[in-house]
Amino acid sequence: MTILSTDLEKAASFLKEGKLVAFPTETVYGLGGNALSDNAVAGIYAAKARPNFNPLIVHVASLEQAHEYVEFSETALQLAQHFWPGPLTLVLPRKKDCKLSLLVSAGLDSVAIRIPGNDFALRLLQLCELPLAAPSANRSGRISPTEASHVMEELTDRIAMVLDGGSCHVGIESTVVDITGKNPVLLRPGSITIEELGKLVKNITPATEATKITGPGMLKSHYAPNHSIRLDATDVKQDEGLLAFGSDVPAGARMTENLSPTGNLEVAATNLFMMLRKLDAGEIAGIAVMPIPHTGLGVAINDRLQRAAAPKEDAA
Ligand code: TXA
Ligand code: MG
Repeated sequence: MTILSTDLEKAASFLKEGKLVAFPTETVYGLGGNALSDNAVAGIYAAKARPNFNPLIVHVASLEQAHEYVEFSETALQLAQHFWPGPLTLVLPRKKDCKLSLLVSAGLDSVAIRIPGNDFALRLLQLCELPLAAPSANRSGRISPTEASHVMEELTDRIAMVLDGGSCHVGIESTVVDITGKNPVLLRPGSITIEELGKLVKNITPATEATKITGPGMLKSHYAPNHSIRLDATDVKQDEGLLAFGSDVPAGARMTENLSPTGNLEVAATNLFMMLRKLDAGEIAGIAVMPIPHTGLGVAINDRLQRAAAPKEDAA
């Protein structure tokens, strides 16, 4: 899958005009807008129908560009040098003269920032010469998009353009680490695991209720399909859709999608949102999900599944 240079150029000029463009990253599709412009950033909140002004991730093309906006501690620099471009978002203090719209920080004195590990995203960032605020390109509370068609289903009439770069290979959103305090805090699990981060930095801890901010990815109900979700299913009802994992799959479901028949967690993460969408579109009474091991990348997969299964009343 490729994106024509002319389309990248068109997208870059839309972004310079303050319009919104959805683009592929290695994790999920982002809904991008000029992070220097209050209007563009407000437009992102409106297009997603995000009920609160929750902070957004700013995407940049280089470490040099990131230095213009945020302060890097030694730990932050180590993580950035090791994992960027890639699926790691660092929450860092805003610089005093930071020109990013205050709306990307939603009132906090920090900024979540990353260099995406996707060539189209990088070329777009270089062409438009802007930092891009980009949350996942779905309506608030819905399943994150891993293909351009998912974005079009929900946002076509609200944005200038969708760049189709094929399927996102990671499939779940970036790992978010807050480095503004004494010790790094894992705010959102992702494909870069806490064990991998722990090899580079000491004292990293998972977020507790006290350290969590109430961003959308942190809400109990998020990534929510229309159908109800039953986790840790070891059997399946006739009228259910089954989200399977591994080779030992219970028979009898109306439809089955297998995250990874060989039990590979990376493959399962890549398929997760796409298969949830497929099942959700089926004529079924609910979605049953087989147990996923809670190790390595399984932690991030289970985090998304628990939010997908949570009662919708909790969604803001
Ligand atoms: O993989 C990703 O991260 C995708 C792609 C498009 O890059 N983006 C994404 O953005 O997932 P979004 O807006 O859906 O999630 C941003 C997460 C939220 O959980 C938010 O609460 C957190 O980052 N966040 C953003 N700014 C923050 C800040 N200043 N302090 C703490 N958390 C922040
Ligand atoms: Mg999101």
